[in-house]
Amino acid sequence: MRSTIELINVSQEFAAQSSAQKSTVALASVNMHIDKKEIVALVGPSGCGKSTVLNIIAGFVRPTSGQVLFDGSVLSGIGPERLVVFQTPALFPWQTVRDNVTFGPRMRGVAIAEYQPLAERIIADVGLTDFQYHYPYQLSGGMRQRTQIARALVNKPEVLLLDEPFGALDAQTRLEMQEMLLGIWERYQATILFITHDVEEALFLSDRMYVLSARPGRVQREIKVPFERPRRYSLFGDEAFARLKAEILAMLHGKPDAEHAA
Ligand SMILES: Nc1ncnc2c1ncn2[C@@H]1O[C@H](COP(=O)(O)OP(=O)(O)OP(=O)(O)O)[C@@H](O)[C@H]1O
Ligand SMILES: [Mg+2]
Repeated sequence: MRSTIELINVSQEFAAQSSAQKSTVALASVNMHIDKKEIVALVGPSGCGKSTVLNIIAGFVRPTSGQVLFDGSVLSGIGPERLVVFQTPALFPWQTVRDNVTFGPRMRGVAIAEYQPLAERIIADVGLTDFQYHYPYQLSGGMRQRTQIARALVNKPEVLLLDEPFGALDAQTRLEMQEMLLGIWERYQATILFITHDVEEALFLSDRMYVLSARPGRVQREIKVPFERPRRYSLFGDEAFARLKAEILAMLHGKPDAEHAA
């Protein structure tokens, strides 16, 4: 299957902001691909370049060298087929959930009869029907994140790019959000790149994982996540799950597993 997104030898160096500073090499020769309808998780130490990878795929940042392909063509700039969900929801405080969600199609001049039914369905799918006339300040953190995801989905993106979307939420809300995201993924058949600090979350959600090394980020390992779908929370108690989690944690902390466990 041809990849939706392909990074070929992508390196990223950010220039120094002043003569007293050094430039930062964020990524060094990164190769990765995200296939259609796949959920790929990206993990790695803080500052290793995870968000930079996402920003490159979103088209916010142009890599210093290497190539990024989208459906086989060189990617240029931002586009509505690749949308980002940030850790901190960027919602308009003066608009209701519903108006925030329909912002994209309204701005593009899509007829109301066309976007309304889709928006209603998506608002229901993210569990916000009863809150659609609330303003962001009246929502919990999880609800704001649901709104942000709905706002991206209403544009029918091919690719959803999520940068630690549940990082600021409590453990219980996080679990609910993970389940919601899997439901969305099944219903809307999106291709998803998911950045997380949480190895358990990455294993629970993804088909494949890339583990990046400390900066400059390189692909340290690619892992095919072997657990069948649909996945349930009982997976967290699975022995193979625990073993893989320990192995990845050891890798992230730069220690062999035996030493780590001792
Ligand atoms: N626009 C930018 N200009 C200059 N330096 C940048 C820019 N974006 C990122 N960097 C630098 O590139 C490196 C990688 O940053 P990035 O945000 O991609 O890491 P990360 O893996 O997402 O970290 P975290 O886990 O803390 O979110 C950092 O040293 C950061 O300071
Ligand atoms: Mg980041």
